[in-house]
Amino acid sequence: MADMTIKKLTVNGREVPFSDERNLLEVIRKAGIDIPTFCYHSELSIYGACRLCLVDVEGKGVLASCSTLPAPGMVVHTDTKEIRDMRKINLELLLANHNRECPTCTRSENCALQALAHRMGVETVRFKAPRKVEPIDDSSPSLTRDPNKCVLCGDCVRVCSEIQGIGAIGFAFRGSNAKVAPAFNASIGKVECVNCGQCVAVCPTGALTPKQDRSKVWDALYDPKKTVVVQIAPAVRVALGECFGAKPGENVAGKLVAALKLMGFQHVYDTCFTADMTIFEEANELIERIQTGGKLPMFTSCCPAWVKYAEIYFPELLPNVSSCRSPQAMFGSIAKKILPKQLGCRREDLVVVSIMPCIAKKFEAQLPKYSVNGIPEVDIVVTTSEVQRMINSLGIQLQELEPEAFDMPMGFATGGGVIFGASGGVMEAALRYVVEKLEKKPLNKVDFKQVRGMDHFKEATLNVAGIEIKVAVVYGLANTKKLLQQIKAGEVQYHFVEVMACPGGCISGGGQPYGVTNRLRAQRQQGLYNADKTHQLQKPQDNYLVQRCYEEHIGGKPGSETAHHLLHTEYQNRSQLFDAKLPIMRGTEAERLPITVTICAKQENCPGQLLLGMLSDYVKNHQYTPWIDMDAAFSSRPAKDGTICVTVGDQIVERTNFRNAMNTLEQLHNQAAFQSITQAIDKGLTQIRK
Ligand code: SF4
Ligand code: SF4
Ligand code: SF4
Ligand code: FES
Repeated sequence: MADMTIKKLTVNGREVPFSDERNLLEVIRKAGIDIPTFCYHSELSIYGACRLCLVDVEGKGVLASCSTLPAPGMVVHTDTKEIRDMRKINLELLLANHNRECPTCTRSENCALQALAHRMGVETVRFKAPRKVEPIDDSSPSLTRDPNKCVLCGDCVRVCSEIQGIGAIGFAFRGSNAKVAPAFNASIGKVECVNCGQCVAVCPTGALTPKQDRSKVWDALYDPKKTVVVQIAPAVRVALGECFGAKPGENVAGKLVAALKLMGFQHVYDTCFTADMTIFEEANELIERIQTGGKLPMFTSCCPAWVKYAEIYFPELLPNVSSCRSPQAMFGSIAKKILPKQLGCRREDLVVVSIMPCIAKKFEAQLPKYSVNGIPEVDIVVTTSEVQRMINSLGIQLQELEPEAFDMPMGFATGGGVIFGASGGVMEAALRYVVEKLEKKPLNKVDFKQVRGMDHFKEATLNVAGIEIKVAVVYGLANTKKLLQQIKAGEVQYHFVEVMACPGGCISGGGQPYGVTNRLRAQRQQGLYNADKTHQLQKPQDNYLVQRCYEEHIGGKPGSETAHHLLHTEYQNRSQLFDAKLPIMRGTEAERLPITVTICAKQENCPGQLLLGMLSDYVKNHQYTPWIDMDAAFSSRPAKDGTICVTVGDQIVERTNFRNAMNTLEQLHNQAAFQSITQAIDKGLTQIRK
C-alpha cells in the first residue's frame, strides 16, 4: 500500500519524493540533477542573489530554486530555453566583470565560474565591464584577495559571520560599485581576520585564494647551499589523494613521502611526531593545573586561528589557553635545534618547509616570536593544494608511486599524533596520556569515542583515579564564542576544552583541496581513525623517539626549563588593533601631532566614531589641520559602556569614559573627557608650533 505521508513533486516529468529538504534546489539535486549555483551553500543562510539556480515552476513562473520551498504536486522544469538563456546572460554579466586571466589564476583547475562557462557553452562575452580594476589585496600572510575575480556570491561574507562569528569582510557599496571588502575598505591583513581560511574554502573563484609560497620552496630546493627538509601535517595525508583519483579519506602519506623525495627534499618528516610531543607537554600542563589549582578550563592551543581569535576577542581567557606551541611550531623549533648537527649543515642553511591543511599556519610561521636571530624556525608553509600543484608541475603520477617511509627520528609517530587532524583528535590523544598517567596503570582501551564525530560540540565526563574530569570539544568560532560565554557566566564547567576553527577540524582547513562537503569531511576523519589503528603504537606517551629526544635535547622531561624555552610560547592581547589604522586626516607641516581614536567597526552609534567626528571638527575649527595626523584604529570590542581609547602624541588618554553617545553633541562637548582630549591637543600643538 502506498505511503500517503510521502510528499512528491515532479521534476522534468519524473516524480521525486521529498521530506525535510530545506528548498527546491535540494530536492532537485536529490533527483540527480546538478543545478548550477554560486551563492548557495548548504551550511550557510540562503542569499538568493546569483540567479543561476533558476527553475520553471508551472503556475508560478521562473524562480530561484534555492529560495523556494518545495510543495507537494509542484511541477518543475529545470531546463527550458528561457532558463538556459537567462543563465547564460547571468554568466556573461559575471564574466564581463571578471578578470579573465584564467591560465595564470591559482584556481584555474577548479574554478566554479570557469566550469560553468564551459558547461553552459558561453563562448563569447558580449558585455563591457562596468567595474573599475581594483588593486589586489596581498596584505595577509595567509590569503590573497583579488576583488577583480569576485562574483559577489557572498559565501565568504556568510561563512565569516555565520560559522566564525567574526564578520571581517562584508558587502560595501551598491549597484555596479558593489564589492566584498573588509570594513572601511581596509586591507584584510589589517583587520580582525583570524586567518582561518574558511572564506577561501568556500569561494567559488580565484577571488580568495591561499597565499602562494610554492616558488619559495622551488628556490630553496634549487639552491645547492641549502638543506631542505619538510614536515607533513596529519590532515594532509587523507585529502591530497582526492586530487589524484584516490578514494576520499585514503591515506597517501607514503606516496607523498616518495613524491617529495622526487622533488628534491633531503628529508621528509611527520608533524605527528611533534603532535605526540605536544601531548607530552599539554597533558602534563593539564595535570599540573588540575593538581595545583591552576586556571581551568584549559584550552588547546594547536589551532593558530583559534589562538588569534582568543587574543582579539577574549584576551581575559588567555591565561586559560595552554602555553604549548602548535605541533608545526614545535617541529620548527626542534628541527632547527637538532638537525644542523645531525645533517651536517649550518643552522642558517637549513630550510624547514611545512605542508599544512591550514592557511593560519602561514600566519603563525611568520610571527616574530617564532624566529631566532631574524631567521624563522619554519621557513616556508605550503598548503595541501599548493603541494598538489607542485606534484603536477613535475608530472609525478602520485597514485603510481611506491609508498616510502618517513625519515627518522622525526618521522616516527603514534596514532595519537595522527588523529590531531580531526575535531576531537587532540582531546582523545590527550586523554590517552592523562588517564594512564593519573591511574598509574597501562591504559588498554585507547578509544574515546565520545569526543569523535562531526558534531560541532561534544562533551564527556570521565572518572579518572577518583577525579571527575569534564572535557568539551568544539569547532567553528561562532560555536566557540557561545561556549566561552557560557563558561564565563559559570553556566558550564570543564577541565579541558579542545577548540578548532575549521568545521570538523583541520581535515577541512582553508588549504585543503577545494569543494569540501560534510560527507567528504566525515570520510577524511574516518581516514585518520583508520590510520590510527594501523600505527604500531596508539598512545603518544609510548613514542620512544620523542622520549629519546627529551633525554638528549629537551631537558630530560616534559615541562623542563628547556622544554619551556623550545616548546612553549606566550600570547598577545590583540583586542585593540592599533596597527590597523585608517587615516582620517593628514597634515602638511613637517612636524605633526598624531591622534588616534579607537573605533568599533561593527557597533552602531559607536562613541569612538562620534568622538572622531567631533575631534576632526575641533581640529578644523581651530585651523590646526596642517599640524595634525588623525587615524581611526580598529577595536574588536564594542565599547558598549562608552569606554574608548584615544592617543594624542605619545600620551595615551586611556579608557576614556565618553558616555551617553546618544546625547546631543552639545552635551558631549561639555564632558570632561572631551575637554581633556582637546586640552591635550592644544598643549601638544603649542609645543610643535613653538
Ligand atoms: S580567513 Fe577566516 S576570519 Fe579571515 S576573512 Fe576569512 S573567514 Fe573571516
Ligand atoms: S570573494 Fe569569493 S566567496 Fe566572496 S563574494 Fe566574491 S566570489 Fe563570493
Ligand atoms: S582548525 Fe586546523 S586547519 Fe583550521 S585554522 Fe585551525 S589549525 Fe588551521
Ligand atoms: S544559488 Fe540560488 S540564487 Fe544563487
